[in-house]
Amino acid sequence: MNTLKSIGVVGAGQMGSGIAQVVLLADLAAVLHDRDERILGAAVQGIDRSLQRQVDKGTLSQADKGAAVGRIRTATDLKALAACDFVIEAVNESLPLKRQIFEALHVLCRPDVVLASNTSSLSITRIAAATGRPDKVIGMHFMNPVPVMKLVEIVPGQATSKETLEETRALALRLGKTAVVAQDFPGFISNRVLMPLINEAIFALHEGVGTRDDIDTVMTLGMRHPMGPLALADFIGLDTCLSIMEILHGGFGDPKYRPCPLLRRMVDAGHLGKKSGRGFYDYRPEGSR
Ligand code: 3HC
Repeated sequence: MNTLKSIGVVGAGQMGSGIAQVVLLADLAAVLHDRDERILGAAVQGIDRSLQRQVDKGTLSQADKGAAVGRIRTATDLKALAACDFVIEAVNESLPLKRQIFEALHVLCRPDVVLASNTSSLSITRIAAATGRPDKVIGMHFMNPVPVMKLVEIVPGQATSKETLEETRALALRLGKTAVVAQDFPGFISNRVLMPLINEAIFALHEGVGTRDDIDTVMTLGMRHPMGPLALADFIGLDTCLSIMEILHGGFGDPKYRPCPLLRRMVDAGHLGKKSGRGFYDYRPEGSR
């Protein structure tokens, strides 16, 4: 096991930037890669804002914030990750795209470097098979928002070595997270349990069992969930929810995972939740509605 100093993060969206933020706060350097320069710029601004909020609240010193921000490097060329000691990929949930990135990372990175994927439900074994180092490929599934949520689900693939699992567990701990190990089956533990719950809440809305607010209130006040399932679906992204349900449905072939037609229709309409301004709730500024 090498001594980690620099962590590569591929993909600077919501998850990638959250992962980079916790990496920086663990006294590690982060090399954040995205193909899109604007996404990289927005990610760095978002990290800066989030750390500034911690300074304002008195939970982080201005000097530590400055040092953390100074440890981030951004790059549009994947080659910038060549010297990293551990890489975490957090791009869109597309198996061909992830396989292509892992194949490239295998060529670029030192042979001892672990290549981890933040996939929420794709097969780690299939991603690993695109590389010449399947023993060094593993799932490292963070929860959104990454800086707040304490869990990392670690998913060894068919060929992942014990050493890789332990190195990944040690990194999760260093990032201040609690790690659980889930086996490489569709949805792992988290989305195998969460997504059918969200899908069922959407069915309840679709069938008129309750209104949006009643369904969410049952789960917040009745079950003490911090957010109702419909608000949570908006927060995660309805396209992501649909894609995970499709993976569960296809992977197990069990009709109990059938995506709700209302979920499908909302995705078709581009109502993807918070990120598109509209989902089960309306996030658009008052005047633009
Ligand atoms: N980044 C950093 N910090 C954030 C944040 C973000 N994006 N969002 C909220 N926070 C911090 C706030 O600063 C605040 O910190 P403080 O307590 O030190 O002041 C704290 O979190 C609470 O935030 P708020 O007071 O603004 O709001 P809430 O109390 O409503 O909490 C929430 C917001 C943490 C998002 C809470 O509603 C929650 O836990 N929701 C459920 C989230 C969840 O279930 N996530 C998992 C999704 S599933 C997933 O990710 C898997 C994927 O594969 C689909």
